Amino acid sequence: MTFLRILSAFSLLLFLTHLFPNCILKFIKKQNLKSKYNCKWALVTGGSSGIGGDIATELAKQGINIVIVSKEHDKLVEYQKSLVSQYNIECRIICVDLCKSKESCEIIFNQCKDINLNLLVCNAGYLTMEGFHQSDISEKLAMFECTVSTTIRLVDHFYKLMIANKMKGGIVIISSSASVCPSPFSVMYGSSRSFLSGFAQSLSIESKIHGIDVLAVQPGLVHTNLFNAVPKHLIFKFLNLMGSQKPSDVTNVVFKSLGRFSIMDSGLFALISSLSKSLLGINLMIVIISFICRNLPDFSNYRKIKI
Ligand SMILES: NC(=O)c1ccc[n+]([C@@H]2O[C@H](COP(=O)([O-])OP(=O)(O)OC[C@H]3O[C@@H](n4cnc5c(N)ncnc54)[C@H](OP(=O)(O)O)[C@@H]3O)[C@@H](O)[C@H]2O)c1
Repeated sequence: MTFLRILSAFSLLLFLTHLFPNCILKFIKKQNLKSKYNCKWALVTGGSSGIGGDIATELAKQGINIVIVSKEHDKLVEYQKSLVSQYNIECRIICVDLCKSKESCEIIFNQCKDINLNLLVCNAGYLTMEGFHQSDISEKLAMFECTVSTTIRLVDHFYKLMIANKMKGGIVIISSSASVCPSPFSVMYGSSRSFLSGFAQSLSIESKIHGIDVLAVQPGLVHTNLFNAVPKHLIFKFLNLMGSQKPSDVTNVVFKSLGRFSIMDSGLFALISSLSKSLLGINLMIVIISFICRNLPDFSNYRKIKI
């Protein structure tokens, strides 16, 4: 009996510590990041659409000048025009392929030489689905470059500049619920996201000494173009039922959480994934996900030698 009481108290505690940040976010207002960090310039990677686009718009609404980095030139130009005309801010665009992380980051650093930037949003990313044996090594490393290497390079550069210039600042990393939940058939995506969350949680502690806040947001399913490039699997419909979000839901979490929390889930699926990892443990989660993968027709293609 006592054992059961202790177990339920422990489960309740785990549940509350996970739910607490998400519950209090409902009752607090979005922060004004311009005044919080005395911010004149922010940089958003993947800021031409989806979650990054929505975050860039919200920053522009607060009167912050923006550097937007993404791959498609026409989309960037169109977005730049709309931000400048609506919010009367300065907006620079940098069109690069972040899968070529080293050269693209050199271009970014060069184009930002003359501005003091103290808000960085590392958001660019894409999703692929295949069996691990079905893609070649260059495709795997391209995903790693776009998310992991680019984030390390950008944070290394701008974090050091913020410290050297004695500026308060914020670094936001858009990770994913895939960081806590095994992602078969998207191994590079899931494991890169685990890196991003781990990177943010460690850096957020030492960065406080310098007045720099670091936050990783782990969204569940969000309606964006991310899924255009992958098959319309049943699993996505199921995840949709568990609560899909709009990009603005993730933006709300960013603007409410930066400087208050270091890791935040966004959406019901993300919350359930984090809770399951704590309550069930990773090995039981792997058994459950293996069962789903074996029994959903979605994944049969990924077992073939070629797609
Ligand atoms: N949607 C979701 O359910 C979900 C859930 C969890 C996490 N996320 C993460 O949230 C982030 C934003 O995704 P989203 O859902 O908003 O999708 P999205 O609408 O497809 O936006 C992705 C952005 O990243 C840019 N991008 C992609 N590959 C790039 C590259 N190689 N070089 C430069 N820019 C590149 C895209 O630019 P172009 O359009 O110019 O290619 C676009 O601006 C991603 O990191 C994604 O993994 C999304």
